[in-house]
Amino acid sequence: MANALIILAAGQGTRMNSDLPKVLHQVGRAPLVAHALAAGRALEPERIIAVTGHGADLVEKAVAQWAPDAQSVRQAEQLGTGHAVAQALPLLEGFDGRVIVLYGDTPFIRPETLDALAASDAAVAVLGFVAADPGRYGRLIAQGPALERIVEYKDASESERGIRLCNSGVIACDAVLLTELVQGLGNDNAAGEYYLTDIVGAARARGLSAEVVTCDEAETLGINTRAELARAEALFQTRQRNDALENGVSMADPDSVYFALDTYLGRDVTVGPNVVFGTGVTVESGASIEAFCHLEGCHISRGATIGPFARLRPGAELAEDVHVGNFVEVKNATLAEGVKVGHLTYLGDAEIGARTNIGAGTITCNYDGVFKHRTVIGEDAFIGSSTMLVAPVTIGARALTGSGSVITKNVPDDALSVARGQQVNKPGLARKLMTMLREEKARRAAAKSEKKG
Ligand code: UD1
Ligand code: CA
Repeated sequence: MANALIILAAGQGTRMNSDLPKVLHQVGRAPLVAHALAAGRALEPERIIAVTGHGADLVEKAVAQWAPDAQSVRQAEQLGTGHAVAQALPLLEGFDGRVIVLYGDTPFIRPETLDALAASDAAVAVLGFVAADPGRYGRLIAQGPALERIVEYKDASESERGIRLCNSGVIACDAVLLTELVQGLGNDNAAGEYYLTDIVGAARARGLSAEVVTCDEAETLGINTRAELARAEALFQTRQRNDALENGVSMADPDSVYFALDTYLGRDVTVGPNVVFGTGVTVESGASIEAFCHLEGCHISRGATIGPFARLRPGAELAEDVHVGNFVEVKNATLAEGVKVGHLTYLGDAEIGARTNIGAGTITCNYDGVFKHRTVIGEDAFIGSSTMLVAPVTIGARALTGSGSVITKNVPDDALSVARGQQVNKPGLARKLMTMLREEKARRAAAKSEKKG
């Protein structure tokens, strides 16, 4: 059956004590709402609708970045989860599949769990969990998997509060039925809110079925405070490390490796200690990342070796068997097959041809203070150590630059280019100079002791 996704992300998150809307706080370098979108993605939804409110402009931007096919709708006033879903109903017009409602601040729901929920053939299916400490969660009144109703903590009796089976907030329901049930919601309750949870009782009152699908409590962890955010980050990293190990990545010290939500590492990739992955990193099979590398927005092909101590920034595109060594920074640059850039180098806004060797200390001088310029180097070239490539500049295939050159003009194919001061040797002058200096030192010492005496 076709699925649609509604993500509730209008809340402020007062307890975060922040100017930033809660769902924009980050775990694994990505806003919480991106995690919810990624989990929901597994359902292959035909429509994705985000309900925004607090900080709507910023939240909508993040939603568009992480799910370009999503639509956003605004909830001007936060009158409850049922009211939030009501705002999304117009965007469900003409859709008659299953709707899954998710919260933007609950980043750990497993795709398989959502699959199980979506597969339930009850009229309303609710994702529940047995809470170690049920606190203020809504309680599920159920007989086995048959769900009768949900009671919010504020409205619950003493004996209902004793129930440990809790509402995660994730609900699945057919679109047409959901529309009818949500439109029938009232707000006559302890919070004066329109509770989405009331649709369960309403469905049962119509003689329809409702079911609980349970999951592990860890999956439903919601984030309400900075402490919970920090805990969530730790949990996320543990999960990513385990997934990577399971998928065939070798890590000598997994606990020191940090992942982003969208990090992709192929089979037989090796990652050394203290490596940080920012967003947008893809590493193909068999590549190796040595200790202390920082990578973001880059693509590393098979057989490439990176680091130790390398920094790859957005737009770094490394072909097969490239070697990037220590203290090398690469930004917005394409390195073709077999390029070697071993030490102390900056390559920015550049294109390097296959098998070219970049000497230690080379810098592409790409920025004139206002504009950025490109450096293009052909295949099989050899850039001497400490060459300054003042862009825009093109170095031909098989060309060679002398160490210490400041290259400001294009170099043709097969040419040797040297651009530095001429070397002048003055025979004996070093010795003469040193003798003069030592004599001067002796004179000063003698003058000083004469003064004392
Ligand atoms: C809700 C559930 C409760 C469940 C708990 C799980 C209801 C009535 N209660 O309670 O049964 O145990 O989640 O965490 O649904 N939101 C909006 N607009 C609103 C109100 C909320 O977009 O008007 C969003 C919030 O941003 C948040 C989510 O909905 O992402 C849940 O809202 P929240 O106020 O945290 O609900 P709880 O009171 O925790
Ligand atoms: Ca909450």
